[in-house]
Amino acid sequence: MGIALTARAVFLGGPGAGKGTQAKRLAAAAGIAHISTGDMLRQHVANGTPLGIQARAFMDAGKLVTDELIVAMVKERIQQPDASSAWILDGFPRTLSQARSLDRMLGASPVTHAIYFLVPDAVLKDRLEGRRTCGKCGAIWHVRTQPTARDGICDHCGGALQQRVDDRAEAIDRRLQEFHTTTAAPLQLHYRERGVLHVLDANRSPEVVYRDLAKLVQS
Ligand code: AP5
Ligand code: MG
Repeated sequence: MGIALTARAVFLGGPGAGKGTQAKRLAAAAGIAHISTGDMLRQHVANGTPLGIQARAFMDAGKLVTDELIVAMVKERIQQPDASSAWILDGFPRTLSQARSLDRMLGASPVTHAIYFLVPDAVLKDRLEGRRTCGKCGAIWHVRTQPTARDGICDHCGGALQQRVDDRAEAIDRRLQEFHTTTAAPLQLHYRERGVLHVLDANRSPEVVYRDLAKLVQS
């Protein structure tokens, strides 16, 4: 169902919290841009661009890519015509320095909603281990919680499902560690101080999370 939305929203949350799942659905329903720094970086890696070559080792190991590279990439993307008034940023910012850079970029049209997707670590691990992504259309599935009708084949486009390189146990642990040391507390504080932070219980079914999320961003 379509919804009217003029939000400039950032989605914060640990790896596997459901940022991408919910951002895809909400952006499609509202007809606004979904800007995922992880998806953009994976596209650069697949295309073998200079940025992709630099970012790849960080990503595969579950480490954060440098602020300088990420901020330049987002700055260029957010100036595109489809991002002039409303958008969802998924996976950015995730350092205080990135959040401050974003504030400067936006000037008089700041972030309207910072949604923190709260999910316990044990659930995050389970979600990442079972995640499968369509190599053709990018749809996100899970072997148990969001299964496709046919094993390994996307219901939406018939593309082959893949497992992300960083969804291996060692990289998952590193990503969780990065999230807890660098992202979670500083960014919640940053957006709480600006009066735009909303903590969303994202340890519920995708349907229920979406219903609450849609209400939040329309408020
Ligand atoms: P990125 O791609 O952003 O990965 P992430 O933050 O680790 O988050 P994920 O994409 O893994 O999880 P998600 O929250 O989108 O969950 P999803 O919806 O898929 O970043 C990857 C890497 O790129 C980083 O490690 C870093 O190297 C680099 N990078 C990116 N941005 C950067 C930045 N700003 N600065 C520096 N480096 C950066 O769902 C997960 C699974 O759970 C799926 O299988 C899904 O079907 C299932 N699921 C979703 N919701 C539910 C639910 N409610 N109940 C049950 N299952 C569910
Ligand atoms: Mg994602």
